[in-house]
Amino acid sequence: MANVFKGRSLNVIEDFSINERRYLFKKVMELKNAVVSGDEQTMAKFRIDDPDFGMYEVFLEDSTRTKESFRNAAKFHHAKVSELLCSSSSINKGESFADTFNMLSGYSNRIFIVRSKVEGLTKWLSEECGEYAVRNGLPYKPAFINAGDGKHEHPTQELLDEFTFLEDQNMDFSHIHLALVGDLYHGRTVHSKADGLKVFDKVKVDLIAPEELMMPENYIEIMRENGFEVRIFSSIADYLASNDTAKMWYFTRPQLERMGERILQKQDMLRDAITFKEQFLPYLQSGTKFYHPLPRHKEHPTIPTFLDKTELNGWERQAINGMYVRMVLLGLIAGKVGSDYEGCEEDAKDYRSEEYIISVDLSDNEAKSKKNYSEGVRPLENGIVIDHICKGDSPSEIRSHMRLISSVLNLDESKGGEWVSRGSDGQYKGIIFRPGNYELSRKDLKRLAAVAPHCTLNIIKNSKVESKFRTHMPPRIYNFSDLSCKNEACISNPCNGEGVPAVFFRTQDDKYRCAYCGKVHSFKEIWNKRS
Ligand code: CP
Repeated sequence: MANVFKGRSLNVIEDFSINERRYLFKKVMELKNAVVSGDEQTMAKFRIDDPDFGMYEVFLEDSTRTKESFRNAAKFHHAKVSELLCSSSSINKGESFADTFNMLSGYSNRIFIVRSKVEGLTKWLSEECGEYAVRNGLPYKPAFINAGDGKHEHPTQELLDEFTFLEDQNMDFSHIHLALVGDLYHGRTVHSKADGLKVFDKVKVDLIAPEELMMPENYIEIMRENGFEVRIFSSIADYLASNDTAKMWYFTRPQLERMGERILQKQDMLRDAITFKEQFLPYLQSGTKFYHPLPRHKEHPTIPTFLDKTELNGWERQAINGMYVRMVLLGLIAGKVGSDYEGCEEDAKDYRSEEYIISVDLSDNEAKSKKNYSEGVRPLENGIVIDHICKGDSPSEIRSHMRLISSVLNLDESKGGEWVSRGSDGQYKGIIFRPGNYELSRKDLKRLAAVAPHCTLNIIKNSKVESKFRTHMPPRIYNFSDLSCKNEACISNPCNGEGVPAVFFRTQDDKYRCAYCGKVHSFKEIWNKRS
C-alpha cells in the first residue's frame, strides 16, 4: 500500500488529519514501549537506518528541547543530521530563504526542521523547494517541519502535548477538558491547540489569562467553530473560584521577548495572574496534572519548582515524550513507518472549486436587459455598471471602497463616476459607471469578485444590457500582485522582502485567512494601499 506520509510537510497541525494524528499517537506508544523495554526488534521497524538520509536543522530562533529532541530522534534513525549555523550563514548577507534552502536541498537533504520568527516560512519553502527539486532533477522533494514560527504555530509541540494528554487518559479520544493558562496571546503552542484539540471528540477549554495576554479572538473563533466549549477567566484565582476546574492544566510562560514596552511595564501584575501559588493547592481536583511546553523562567516560573516532586508534575514526561513523537514523525515522513495506515474520507482536503462569478441569463427577462443606467444626465449607450456595492454599509464606507475598486480594476483614468443610492429597503449601496467599450477577461472578472463580492456587473452595448454577472466571495484569492497579508511577521508580507505572492482562503464567516500565517482579513483589507 502507498505510504501517505512519505515526503509530507508539517507546517500547521491541520496538515495531518485527525485520523492520521491518531495513527501517529498509536505508533508513538508502540515505539516508546519498545525503547523503554529495550525491544530492539520493534525499534528496528521504525528506524530509517540510512546514513545518507539527510535531515537539516535550521534554528533562526533559540531552542533547547525542539532542536535537541529532533537531533536525538535523527540519531536514533542512524540518519545524517546537519545544522545550519545561522549566526554565520549567508542569510546575514541578505540571501533569501528560498535561495538558502534550495541550495541545502540540493545537498541530499530530505527533511528540514525550521524555527523562525517569520510566520508561514516552512509552507512557503515546501512549495519553493519542491519546484527547485523538479527544475534540477532531484530524486526527491524535501519535506519541511515547522519547529515554531513566530506567534503562529508549533505543530510538533502540539503532537507531543496531545500524546501526553492521551497517555494520561489511557488513549481515550472521546473527550478532553483542558485549562490553558499563561501568555495565550503570544504563545504559538496554545494557538496550535485551536485545531489540534480536534483530535478529541468533545472538547472543553478554559482560557486563563489577563486581558493583555488573552488568546487572540481569531483563535477563539476557530475553537468555537470547531465545536469546543470555551470559557474565559482573567486569573487563576478567578478560575478556582468557579468551582468547575479541569484536571489538565497547560501553562505557558510570558513571552517577554515578544511584548511591547506598554505591556512590559505591567509584567509583575500579569505574571501574578498566571502563576500558580501554594495556597491554591487545596482547590485543585484530585488527580490534576500540570503540563508546560517549557522552558520556564528560573526566577519567575509560572509552575513553581516546589511542585516538581508532586503528582501534579506532567511536564517532565511531556518533554521526554517530545523525542518519541519526533522519532515517529521522522519515520513517517521518511516513509519507513505508515504503510499500514488505512486512510479515511476526512483525509481528503476540501479544495473548494465553486463558481463565484455567475452569468445571469437575460433571455427570459427582457425588461431587465432594457434597464437604463445613466452617464450623468444621459442614458449609458456603451459601458459598464457595477451595482450593489457594499450594500448595507454607511455612505462613507461605500465611497471609500468604491475608490479601492476603481483603482484595483484600473478604472481611475477613465471617464465616468460613482454614486451612493438608497433602496426601498432603506439600505445604501454604491454604483460605479464607466462609459466606453469594455471587454473583460476571466481574470478581470476574478479581480472584480475579489474586490467587489455581492455586486452585479452590467455590460452595456447599444443601450442594452448585453451581459450581466453576479459576483460572490471567491473561495481563494491569489495570483494578483497587489495583494498582501497585513501581518508584518508573515513570510508573504512585503516587508520581509522574500517576494512571496499572497494567497487567501475564505473562512466560514466570509473573511480571508492568509495561507501562510493564518491571519484573518476582511476582503477589503487584503489589497495594497493606493497612494
Ligand atoms: N517547547 C519548546 O519549544 O522548547 P524549546 O524552545 O526549548 O525548543
